[in-house]
Amino acid sequence: MREPPVQLPGRNQPCWCGSGRKYKKCHADEDNARHRNQAAGPSVASVTERVRPGRISPPRPVPEHIPRPPYVANDGVPPPRGPARPRTPDELERMRRAGRAARAVLMGLAEHVRPGVTTNELDALAHDHAVALGAYPSPLGYQGFPKSICTSVNEVICHGIPDDRPLAAGDICNIDVTLYLDGVHGDTSTMFCVGDVDADKRRLVETTQRALHAGIAAVRPGAEVRAIGRAIEQVATAEGLSVVRAFVGHGVGPEFHAEPTIYHYYEPDARTVLAEGMTFTIEPMLNLGTWRHVMWDDGWTAVTADLAPSAQFEHTIVVTSAGAELLTVLEGEPQPFLGGVSAGS
Ligand code: MF3
Ligand code: CO
Ligand code: CO
Repeated sequence: MREPPVQLPGRNQPCWCGSGRKYKKCHADEDNARHRNQAAGPSVASVTERVRPGRISPPRPVPEHIPRPPYVANDGVPPPRGPARPRTPDELERMRRAGRAARAVLMGLAEHVRPGVTTNELDALAHDHAVALGAYPSPLGYQGFPKSICTSVNEVICHGIPDDRPLAAGDICNIDVTLYLDGVHGDTSTMFCVGDVDADKRRLVETTQRALHAGIAAVRPGAEVRAIGRAIEQVATAEGLSVVRAFVGHGVGPEFHAEPTIYHYYEPDARTVLAEGMTFTIEPMLNLGTWRHVMWDDGWTAVTADLAPSAQFEHTIVVTSAGAELLTVLEGEPQPFLGGVSAGS
């Protein structure tokens, strides 16, 4: 018997088996049942219908007057990763502006996230907002990425491409916004719960945010990079959740992705010492089932190997004298990780 392909047809398209019948009248129910059964491991009642690749619209144009990051003129190929260099005060000031703009675009989507809205529509809103702020949406054209934000639904771990799939009640969706403004990038993401979401998914989302905050709280000059992943992994493990290993946080600044590499699990060899002025992202991905992933044929979309749900939160931060400053926050938002007497409050 032929095996079903990784990318299954749409319900009204011809079945993959060659019967000539519509997929929904042929193998659809069988395939869905099989995927539910494969999702062994911890109670993953949250596995319902898998996310399928949708139609992707053409890249959106960016007005000429908006400065592009260098990789755009180089076929999407970025320069080699720079070292974990502390930033100058001027770079930091620009990163605060880029980070604030990225957060504003991300939070501007909140009121639009509801059942029925497509991730492509969210991409259009974010793209137009970015351009209105004078920013270039960093993913667009980065190593061939075709859209302006990443949207990762349910079992999609990260780098989901916005398409014509409407969000449905019960979905969880990560939206990841990176903007290039004033010559630097700001990179941030958050989870949205669409309509009523079941208890396992809510616990996954809540714990992932707590894990990000635990990771940030481990940042201070003199600490090693491995302290961040250790703190994140402790939060995940206590809730019986797994930590994705294949995707990491990264230095960020004039480059989208630079050193240091930030592991979200305990990596004993990550001994790089954090210094004041270093800027990087922390962006843990936690799963209800296995930490292993499978790539879709699009080369971008990473899904959990057991199709159990995945969640992610991300901030860009700078190491300060006693802790960390969040760069991807709106004006006047609390800074709970600066260190000193109110640390952790
Ligand atoms: N924003 C993602 C990150 O956190 C990177 C997206 S790259 C893209 O690093 F090409 F997928 F958009
Ligand atoms: Co990032
Ligand atoms: Co990101």
